[in-house]
Amino acid sequence: MPGTDPWSHVDHYLEEMLQTTDPALESALARSAAAGLPSIQVSPTQGKFLHLLARGIRARAVLEIGTLGGYSAIWLGRAIAPEGRLLSLEVAPKHAAIARENLAEAGLHEVVEVRVGPALETLELLARESAGPFDLVFVDADKPSTPEYFDWSVRLTRPGGLIVVDNVVRRGEVADETSTDPGARGNRRFLERLRSDPRVSATALQTVGTKGHDGFVLALVTESPGPSGAVRA
Ligand code: SAH
Ligand code: DHB
Ligand code: MG
Repeated sequence: MPGTDPWSHVDHYLEEMLQTTDPALESALARSAAAGLPSIQVSPTQGKFLHLLARGIRARAVLEIGTLGGYSAIWLGRAIAPEGRLLSLEVAPKHAAIARENLAEAGLHEVVEVRVGPALETLELLARESAGPFDLVFVDADKPSTPEYFDWSVRLTRPGGLIVVDNVVRRGEVADETSTDPGARGNRRFLERLRSDPRVSATALQTVGTKGHDGFVLALVTESPGPSGAVRA
């Protein structure tokens, strides 16, 4: 049962210890739930993790693929250095509308732009417009397209920039070669490409908590391709 497993128990404890919420974040969750949006946003500790990553690299230009109700966008938007911008891509007009309300209430309407449309189309448009380069990208939309989102993200990120990909583990399904789940297959296709992608240095971390067993990929866009096969920092 959700909420009673040890991961959730510890996550709630960590949330209490680490200031992972406030009225604007709570209100965003409440408005999203009231509007019937699925409760699949990053957890509070994960949101703060993204926030600290962005702050740590003094990100000014951030791209998010998959807005939902804007919960992760609030965390990322608050991390952005003065004059910075977050562009968040969302296919569902209803999600985008709720996200804009949540972002406005959080005081981020001038920092975050939600662009509606299928992300693959918007990304192609961004590349054609020479948008970016971005300092940080958070990939968190439909999982079967993760390999394509990641490829666009690399092209749109500056050398030294970071890309975070959500939901790469999915209760362990990623390591099950017989899985027919489209999301798991998308993640396997993504990791197979990542394995030999000379443009990035990447790792993955499994996570447990209120969202169960899952994980992130973290990729650094390298300054120049390293020697093939070499492990670089
Ligand atoms: N990043 C959010 C959660 C995103 S959930 C958070 O943590 O708060 C995934 C979102 O991706 C959903 O809102 C879904 O509508 C959107 N999505 C699904 N397919 C998409 C596509 N092709 N293009 C853009 N967004 C898409
Ligand atoms: C789902 C999507 C997510 O982005 C997530 O973090 C968890 C679940 C989903 O589509 O089920
Ligand atoms: Mg996610």
